[in-house]
Parts: sequence; C-alpha cells; structure tokens
Amino acid sequence: MNNDGVDKGRRRLLIGATSAVGAVGAVGAAVPFIASWNPSAKAKAAGAPVRVKVDKLEMGQQVIAAWQGKPIFILRREQGMLENITQQNDRLADPASNESEQPDYAKNEYRSRKDDLLVLIGLCTHLGCSPKIFTEVKPMEFEVDWKGGYHCPCHGSKFDLAGRVYQGVPAPTNLVVPPYSYIDDNTIIVGVDEESA
Ligand code: FES
Repeated sequence: MNNDGVDKGRRRLLIGATSAVGAVGAVGAAVPFIASWNPSAKAKAAGAPVRVKVDKLEMGQQVIAAWQGKPIFILRREQGMLENITQQNDRLADPASNESEQPDYAKNEYRSRKDDLLVLIGLCTHLGCSPKIFTEVKPMEFEVDWKGGYHCPCHGSKFDLAGRVYQGVPAPTNLVVPPYSYIDDNTIIVGVDEESA
C-alpha cells in the first residue's frame, strides 16, 4: 500500500502549516479533507483544541490532523478490522492497556469512544517517529501474519489497529490516545474530554 498521504501529512506538520490535514485511503489514494474550524497557528502551538470533521472519512481510511504540534491519527475501522483486533491479544505487550496512556473512556477493547473511530497521537512510544499504517491483512516483510496495523519505520515497532504494541519490539507501550470528544456524529474535537466543550 502506498503511504504517500501519511508522509505528506507529516511533512506539513514539520513545516508548521496551519491547514493541517492529509488523508490516506484503504487503497492508498490521497483524498481531500477539510477541518471545519482551524485555530490560529499561535493557538495551536499553545495547545488549543482542534475540531475535525469526520463525515467524509470512509471505512478503512485515515486522516492526520495536528494538535499541540503532534500528528493525530483518525482512522475509521470497518467490522473486519475490529474483529482482527479482538483476536490478537496473545501477541501484544499490553493488550488491556494497563501500562499505556489513554483517557478512561478509551481504556476498552477498541481503545475508543465509538467502536469504529480510532483517535491516536501518531508518535511511536519508543523514540517518537511517526508509524505508518498498513490496513491490509497479508504477509508483510516485517510480520508474516499481519492483521493490519501500524509499523514504525525507525526501529520496527508494530502496533495493531487499536494502537496496541506487539511483544518483542522496542516500543514499551501502546500508542497514546489523546483526550477527545464528539461534538456531533460527524465532528470530533481533539484536546477536550467533555462533549460540552
Ligand atoms: S521510534 Fe518507533 S521503533 Fe523506535
């Protein structure tokens, strides 16, 4: 799968662009994606919450937003992805997320408020590289029995489609889930826990 969209999204972050959004589809096609509201660059740097419209996010697609200068992965998971998540616990270092960082409402089977939508800070918990997403279930050069997930290009850490880390890789814990809320069915806000925000 081509992950150019993810790379482009990261490059935008690194150069400090304020219109921060890239997307990658299940077949690798970059698609346009517009946040409904963008705070100023100064507000973002200070950690202002960021609203993201998710209505155009199709099954298997991921968009990358920015919050506090970090990439935020937002992935729409289809039913098959969710089923694979539940079948991999014995391969994971922290399947119940007891040693990992997430809000209480994301300390569950799928590490999310709603089953389909995953929200993660897109930085590896080893040394902070940005993992790449590979949604296809097929043998990969870094994992023969690959069920879909994230692979870190720096030192090979692997995570499932809930951001949970595999055993035997450098990353010590699962990818971090940031605080987030739903404003409505089609809009999330990253950086705020309560829906009244
Ligand atoms: S930074 Fe990801 S494996 Fe080292």
